[in-house]
Amino acid sequence: MIGVFDSGVGGLAAIKELRKIARDADICFLADRKNAPYGTKSLEEIIEISKRNIEMLLSLGAEKILIACCTASAVYLYLSESEKEVAVPIINPAAKRAVSLSESGRIGVIATKRTVTEKAFSKAVNALSDSARIYEMETQIFVDLVENGARDGKLTQDESLKIQNALLPLRDKNIDTLILGCTHFPHIENEIRRYLNVKTVNPALEGALEIAKIANVSENGRTIYI
Ligand code: DGL
Repeated sequence: MIGVFDSGVGGLAAIKELRKIARDADICFLADRKNAPYGTKSLEEIIEISKRNIEMLLSLGAEKILIACCTASAVYLYLSESEKEVAVPIINPAAKRAVSLSESGRIGVIATKRTVTEKAFSKAVNALSDSARIYEMETQIFVDLVENGARDGKLTQDESLKIQNALLPLRDKNIDTLILGCTHFPHIENEIRRYLNVKTVNPALEGALEIAKIANVSENGRTIYI
């Protein structure tokens, strides 16, 4: 069984992708709404929450765990060796995709406050490319919007305006690729892509591809939601 966790509906973006790739896998999804939002919490709190979630999913029978949350993936290096062995973070696969997609090497990142403070994506991209220029910016407000129901195709005028205002600082950066550095953001991906006119990278998809390579994907195709 593959365990998946996030602070809320963000993980659903990963489940959607994982279901397509690993149709017969058993999946257990923990939406940790009790501790949401993660992005405004301290480093110590995120480490503790991540450890607890991994432990819970293991106790429920997960063999591999997708950390379907960029904020929790940003603290991956603070996990124990045995936790690292079972857990798959989604930052590196997303950074890899962005570097290969970007023609200009000018890459934007939008993410939660904690992910940006940890410079998680900048570090991952810089480790892969010396020449890439990264513009990393927090858009924590998008987490609240998505948790409150904002979705592509049915955005209100007010939601659209809030999204556009938050993205304004990236408009003149000449980026050609944007990492949606929070798994809540694919729910408003079309609006973001349209406004900035960029290619987007979805860490939920990249993480799903990554875990499907190493997990047992031929089981009963059940999905359990917690
Ligand atoms: N969806 C999460 C992420 O990928 C966390 C959002 C939050 O709870 O602040 O970063």
